[in-house]
Amino acid sequence: MNLKEELESLRLKVIEEIDQINTLGGLSQIRVEIFGKKGSITQALHGMKDLTPEERPVIGAFANEMRDALSEQLEAKKQELEEKVMNEKLSQETIDVTLPGRKIKRGVLHILNQAREEIENIFLSLGYQIVEGFEVEIDHYNFERMNMPKDHPARDMQDTFYISEDIVLRTHTSPVQARIMEAHDFSKGGLRMISPGKVFRRDTDDATHSHQFHQIEGLVVDQGITMGDLKGTLEFLIKKIFGESRDIRLRPSFFPFTEPSVEVDVSCFKCSGKGCNVCKHTGWIEILGAGMVHPEVLRMSEVDTDYSGFAFGLGIERITMLRYGINDIRDFYNNDLRFSVQFT
Ligand code: DAH
Repeated sequence: MNLKEELESLRLKVIEEIDQINTLGGLSQIRVEIFGKKGSITQALHGMKDLTPEERPVIGAFANEMRDALSEQLEAKKQELEEKVMNEKLSQETIDVTLPGRKIKRGVLHILNQAREEIENIFLSLGYQIVEGFEVEIDHYNFERMNMPKDHPARDMQDTFYISEDIVLRTHTSPVQARIMEAHDFSKGGLRMISPGKVFRRDTDDATHSHQFHQIEGLVVDQGITMGDLKGTLEFLIKKIFGESRDIRLRPSFFPFTEPSVEVDVSCFKCSGKGCNVCKHTGWIEILGAGMVHPEVLRMSEVDTDYSGFAFGLGIERITMLRYGINDIRDFYNNDLRFSVQFT
């Protein structure tokens, strides 16, 4: 078989092969088998060197034509196969736009944050500012400036975590009172603020105690502030939270930083005062502590003596537990979605 015949039979064989191939991988393999360094045509063309000078251009031209024709055929086949792959893909990936969409699960704000925001909004509507304090506080503000000098017995109820002898995790949000009073420019008017945040106690965790919980402090200092202002403000707050038909009641109490001090009760929202298990059959539920800012606290914050003020402190967990009948404070912190998603 001379070279031309060899090439011709090769050509027919390759045309047949290309024709039968039906994957892109197979196709590129054939391309290598034909045109690659060790490919069949490349090999056959090595025989060119044995041709006579007359034969060489004729066979050369034939070989060139043949190579071009086969390349074209390969290219056409490639396009055909690519189209096939694309069409298969398209038919498999069709989207049924009439199917109902998958619902995205939306998170909810933690109930304690919802409660905080709600109370913040009530006070914003009254023109209060919202102030942030420090969770790590110095003894001076947490105790001394709240009229609890070293060895004061009231400190016993507020043992806490000590970072050092003078630095503590704050036991209440009250130190913000001292910080804001000394920062406030009273020549520009009085002070109305609330300050929400985390507080800490050395407590054994149980159903009603947690070593970490949340409070909202309130403070109003201005000329002529009276206990009537305190009572009116708290009545407004409590009716907003627990409903317009609630009453409040003030009972004498003691806090080192207020004088007089009161414990504030709300008429039971479950039995409306008739007596039930929620109010322990008294008709009243204790809700927060409050009072007129102690003159000593005002003096330590260098507030002029013609100013007076009231303050209050409420526990966000306590209020939320009462409101929703939550029996265990630990439910707030366990991150159990079954609990959290109820408050949408
Ligand atoms: N700081 C008090 C506590 O954590 C709560 C409190 C009571 C704050 C009376 C006040 C207040 O501002 O007037 O127990």
